[in-house]
Amino acid sequence: MSTSSHSPSASPSHNQLDTKAQAWSALFSEPMSDLVKRYTSSVFFDKRLWQADIAGSLAHADMLAAQNIIGADDHAAIQKGMAQIAQEIASGAFDWKLDLEDVHLNIEARLTQLVGDAGKRLHTGRSRNDQVATDVRLWLRDEIDLIANLLVELQQALVATAVQNIDVILPGFTHLQVAQPVSFGHHLLAYVEMFARDAERMQDVRRRVNVLPLGSAALAGTTYPLDRERVARTLGMVDANGDARVCQNSLDAVSDRDFAIEFTAAASLCMVHISRLSEELIVWMSQNFGFIQIADRFTTGSSIMPQKKNPDVPELARGKTGRVVGHLMGLITLMKGQPLAYNKDNQEDKEPLFDTVDTLKDTLRIFAEMVGGQLNPTTGAKEGGITVNAQAMEDAAKKGYATATDLADYLVKKGLPFRDAHETVAHAVKAAQSHACDLSELPLAVLQGFHPDIEKDVYEVLSLRGSLNARNTLGGTAPAQVRAQIARHQARLG
Ligand code: ARG
Repeated sequence: MSTSSHSPSASPSHNQLDTKAQAWSALFSEPMSDLVKRYTSSVFFDKRLWQADIAGSLAHADMLAAQNIIGADDHAAIQKGMAQIAQEIASGAFDWKLDLEDVHLNIEARLTQLVGDAGKRLHTGRSRNDQVATDVRLWLRDEIDLIANLLVELQQALVATAVQNIDVILPGFTHLQVAQPVSFGHHLLAYVEMFARDAERMQDVRRRVNVLPLGSAALAGTTYPLDRERVARTLGMVDANGDARVCQNSLDAVSDRDFAIEFTAAASLCMVHISRLSEELIVWMSQNFGFIQIADRFTTGSSIMPQKKNPDVPELARGKTGRVVGHLMGLITLMKGQPLAYNKDNQEDKEPLFDTVDTLKDTLRIFAEMVGGQLNPTTGAKEGGITVNAQAMEDAAKKGYATATDLADYLVKKGLPFRDAHETVAHAVKAAQSHACDLSELPLAVLQGFHPDIEKDVYEVLSLRGSLNARNTLGGTAPAQVRAQIARHQARLG
């Protein structure tokens, strides 16, 4: 079967979609005002979908030809025209027209200009509604793959830094009060767990993104004998078995943007994790902590205070988290209350989605480098990651009676009920505070004053290292456990 042009252009003078008013039909008696054109057009942001748009069109044309809906000559003309358009866009020569509203109409109009009627036949059995939903999904799928790689790189940077810091001790905090000593490697690996879950969430979202709306047409499906599964396979929208994944309800396919919302939710969580890490880097860098330094290229100076080196990159990442969470709120509110099927509201999905992707990618890239350093091509080693002041960390861990729990546990092992041991140690801490010293600095006789069962071996228990080694349960901070975590991550991340 071969159709003649089903384009709305009835007037003989109208051979191509030169202006937006012409894009619709002869029905329109007055042109759009410039303000309305600017208000409704999306081309200046959705042009970034051009590769997905062309890929979708080529897959559609291939199927139309295979189904004898268009002829082989038209198919060849479309392929040739699209190749030229791709080249024009890539080289910057393409003339994007605001008048043509969006990426879809711009490319289609140019195709018709280049190949005539074949270009007009491309839109057979298709609507911009299923076209845009397909484009966004294709684009987002590829972006998710890039994000997945960046998440691996960030995790690798954190693991590599953890390897260097298994035996470095810093105070672990609860309520930002010194709680118990922990290995700095262990601390970093906590973030690896978070980013590993973020990566999992991205993969899960990808499964629902990678489904084909095309073939749903405007909202109800189409009268042409389309082979939607062929299009899905051409576009790589397949499951693990290679079976085509096609949206099963046309109304849903053209209208829902839940996949974009889900993605932005996963991105928001990832940014929240970045933001937590940022906050710690900022605190650790402050003179009052002095635990770490980040390379100068991630900091800025002050125009007035010559001594300053400000952690701008982590601060901005913390700030940009608000921006991404804002996009999530924007998208989810955009969807709320929309009746079936497509509504123009959905054009508003793009800027928040694009900005979420850009922000997340830049942030992950910069964090991987800030934490793990950059590859030196001559030595093959990473250089310029975070610099750790192990002494400052240890000194800080000694300050807040971080081993008080260890003393309580020691007394429990001597037979005291935990609650009594807890109370006894509180008295010991009070005494140490009044002498402005650590528990480990109290003489044995003084300690024995709190409980007669305390012996010389208590000093090992009160040491930071003793405390660390003792927390040897699965997932604990003992170096043996940290090594086990590292091995697991290395095997997983390659
Ligand atoms: N630019 C539009 C969007 O992003 C494309 C779909 C337009 N469809 C329509 N029926 N006006 O949503």
